[in-house]
Amino acid sequence: MKAVVVEQYAPIDQIALKEIAVPAVGAGQLRIKVQAASIGFVDGLKVEGRYQTRDSLPFTPGAEFAGIVDEAAGDVTGFAPGTPVLGMARSGALAEYIVVPAAAVEIMPEGLAPEAGAAFRTNYLTALYALGERGTLRAGEHLLVLGAAGGTGIAAIQVGKLLGARVTAAASTEEKRAFARSFGADDVIDYTRADWRDALKDLTGGDGADVIFDPVGGEVSVQAFRSIAWNGRHLVVGFAAGSIPALPFNLPLLKGGILIGVDVAQIAKREPEAQARVLTQLSAWLRDGQLKPVVGKVFAFTDFREAFKTMQTRAALGKMVVRIG
Ligand SMILES: NC(=O)c1ccc[n+]([C@@H]2O[C@H](COP(=O)([O-])OP(=O)(O)OC[C@H]3O[C@@H](n4cnc5c(N)ncnc54)[C@H](OP(=O)(O)O)[C@@H]3O)[C@@H](O)[C@H]2O)c1
Repeated sequence: MKAVVVEQYAPIDQIALKEIAVPAVGAGQLRIKVQAASIGFVDGLKVEGRYQTRDSLPFTPGAEFAGIVDEAAGDVTGFAPGTPVLGMARSGALAEYIVVPAAAVEIMPEGLAPEAGAAFRTNYLTALYALGERGTLRAGEHLLVLGAAGGTGIAAIQVGKLLGARVTAAASTEEKRAFARSFGADDVIDYTRADWRDALKDLTGGDGADVIFDPVGGEVSVQAFRSIAWNGRHLVVGFAAGSIPALPFNLPLLKGGILIGVDVAQIAKREPEAQARVLTQLSAWLRDGQLKPVVGKVFAFTDFREAFKTMQTRAALGKMVVRIG
């Protein structure tokens, strides 16, 4: 089968499609014929060996996928060959076939395209776990989403609206702000402007944001915390800007605000009940049509490098998806 294979940690231009063996199915596992896989910011870091944990070499990147069950182990029920599924794995999705534990997939809701199925799990899990479980976002509260047109950002806008929040989307270009608005943001802010906090102050009646969803990091994170409401929650999701900010400890004191870490990679182990709760709610929204995963741009398998580069150059709107089968 064809797969993207990382043999040495390196920039994406040095990574190639290779012919490798189709993986065998073990106990409790399924082999999926991948139709679409999506790329997250983390995948780019992993390929270069710059993520906080390293996949051992060689490995195939890609953590989210949609496809068709090709083979099920004898001890797995409910996933006959031919069943369409979507799922999430640590890596391996940028390949014609992936083998995963049956627990890593769910049956595709009817009518959902593979590209949308592949764009679902990580970002929406991150958004609802962050906003619902960690940030306890309540209806009527003011949510500020940084990096709002990115993969997690756009998911946070949609989930924030479903939870009943008033959502302000902060993004760097007019095109990104229009994109954020088209997926439900009530207001938009250009956070590259020096006076962006004044705009937020006006939008929140002087109070600041009750919850801040922050996948960006860098100086903008500290600025955002300065605009937090009393008892506000600032959710630390990621550092797409490349630098980890340092928050002066007097700010939580002065602002009465709370800094909260979010790491979906740890919840299956540390908070399985929260993960199950979140996935159940997301599936319900997906099945009743309230939530539609945002597909940014779709790339051919042979153009997989472009999907990475679009994200790495800050040019992506929504999730980057690679069409495989
Ligand atoms: N904690 C978790 O569990 C979890 C889960 C998923 C992802 N993450 C992390 O969240 C972060 C964002 O992921 P994502 O998938 O949303 O990424 P993304 O789609 O690339 O979006 C990131 C956004 O950050 C902004 N940004 C600011 N400076 C940037 C720069 N120098 N390069 C690229 N983007 C920049 C961009 O918006 P503007 O141009 O509008 O500023 C961009 O839209 C990553 O660090 C990822 O590792 C964490």
